Amino acid sequence: MPKIFIVGGAGKVGRRLAQQLSERGHEPLSLYRKAEQRDELTALGATPIEGDLISLSVEDLADLMRGCDTAVFSAGAGGAGMEVTNAIDGAGLEKAVEAAKVAGIQRFLLVSVFPDALRDQERKDDFENYIKVKKLADAYLVASGLDYVIVRPGTLTEETGRGRVRADLAIPYGEVPRDDVAAVLAELVDRRPDVTRTIIELTEGEMPVSDAIARLA
Ligand SMILES: NC(=O)c1ccc[n+]([C@@H]2O[C@H](COP(=O)([O-])OP(=O)(O)OC[C@H]3O[C@@H](n4cnc5c(N)ncnc54)[C@H](OP(=O)(O)O)[C@@H]3O)[C@@H](O)[C@H]2O)c1
Repeated sequence: MPKIFIVGGAGKVGRRLAQQLSERGHEPLSLYRKAEQRDELTALGATPIEGDLISLSVEDLADLMRGCDTAVFSAGAGGAGMEVTNAIDGAGLEKAVEAAKVAGIQRFLLVSVFPDALRDQERKDDFENYIKVKKLADAYLVASGLDYVIVRPGTLTEETGRGRVRADLAIPYGEVPRDDVAAVLAELVDRRPDVTRTIIELTEGEMPVSDAIARLA
């Protein structure tokens, strides 16, 4: 059973991904940091792995990841300010990439952000920093030599997913349900090695997820 390590496993995308991977016959290992998240992750079919991205060393994280086939990074500061954004979305991603290398994991999927998100609104320093940190994180992963795919979703919603998306190298900005982001990530887990070393912009759309991702092979 393929093992998939999810950094940000207790997050809103991470939980959906764990459930979908489990339904597909994978074994998700979900990194979490709050005791009350443990039982829910187990109920979703995940193996809960306790750890905090800030205090774990690269070697500690590699030990937790060892034996997995793919790593997915969907952690984020969630609007907690620049310092936390820099520590999680920035330094945290770099730590996870290095840990994957130490653990011998080649496949690495990153939930990034849509570069045109909210560009027509008043610019706030925190948001500009968030976009900058995400872009630098993308560049770090691209330079890592890993078998990467970067997914840049538009604004995430809690709508029930329709399993239909628009996914391509460059598309107009829009929204996308978290359910469908998770479906795309699960598809990419299974699409190794034919969808690799690419960046995918993602919004809601009309194409079934499997077809939308197959087009990018
Ligand atoms: N919101 C949007 O519209 C939008 C758009 C495009 C992309 N994104 C990106 O999509 C990703 C996932 O979104 P989401 O809705 O799933 O976010 P979320 O629910 O906030 O999930 C992020 C997860 O990261 C975890 N995390 C934060 N600090 C951590 C630490 N020190 N150690 C371990 N885990 C830590 C959080 O843990 P806790 O549960 O313990 O807090 C949380 O579970 C984020 O990276 C975000 O930047 C968001």
